[in-house]
Amino acid sequence: TDSQLKELNDIDQMVCQWLEELMHQARELVQSHVDVQNKDGNARNLVTNVDRENECWLDQKIRTFNPHAKIISEEGFGDHLVDMDGDVWFVDPIDGTMNFVHEHTDFAIMVALYRDGKPLLGWIADVMGNDIHHGGPAIGVQINQQKVPATPDVVLSQSILMLSGRCLVAGDYGYKTLAQKALAFRVIGSAGIAFSYLLKGQVNGYVSKLMPWDVAAGRVLAESLGFIVTNLDGQALNMLSSNTVLVATYSTHHEIVTMLKG
Ligand code: IPD
Ligand code: CA
Ligand code: CA
Ligand code: CA
Repeated sequence: TDSQLKELNDIDQMVCQWLEELMHQARELVQSHVDVQNKDGNARNLVTNVDRENECWLDQKIRTFNPHAKIISEEGFGDHLVDMDGDVWFVDPIDGTMNFVHEHTDFAIMVALYRDGKPLLGWIADVMGNDIHHGGPAIGVQINQQKVPATPDVVLSQSILMLSGRCLVAGDYGYKTLAQKALAFRVIGSAGIAFSYLLKGQVNGYVSKLMPWDVAAGRVLAESLGFIVTNLDGQALNMLSSNTVLVATYSTHHEIVTMLKG
């Protein structure tokens, strides 16, 4: 209905404004001194004061706007959920922290809203690109103010795939075969930026293993453009746990699921 569309458009605009503010701040901070720590004693698992501050700020904004909502966020300011009932928000305050700290580009800030388990709205802010990818199944997808067209169907041999570097070297999930059969593959170090390439039509698929906050926003936006998003068995994602993730056009998705079953 019109009032539901208005609600979604209003929430979309509100979160876009939050992200404008955080992107601006993050661009100021990216070249300055940030406080970097290892998580669980793992030198490859980084967190910074910017991750924590962004998450704390976003979670507070969400709670003020929507006091009954539940939040799943990476750095510990959210809630512990046992189901997807009601309004559930996902927050990844810096996605691609390794890139943020070392490369100073290709990192994102991501937010998503699900209602009773259904994807409603997603936002991926490509900070250094100064682009906000936003929208959902009911209101369509935009990059900034520009409407994004549905994705054309592409077969695997014509697809450029984004792959997880870690899964690739570990040889998990038939990754090597996938990489060989695709037209080309790329590794970028941020799930949010990988999704932004998909939404812009620069690549045709993405295969990884991800936590809920890594995939929540990208799933909403990619599905809205006609991409199929499942785990590598072709089944629906569990938004409360880690999943293998396969995002691809209809034909490529079918080929990959069939190939991995065989
Ligand atoms: C990571 C990035 C990376 C993916 C990892 C994630 P973080 O997110 O999205 O691309 O391969 O699995 O953990 O920790 O930098 O927010
Ligand atoms: Ca992390
Ligand atoms: Ca992430
Ligand atoms: Ca993160």
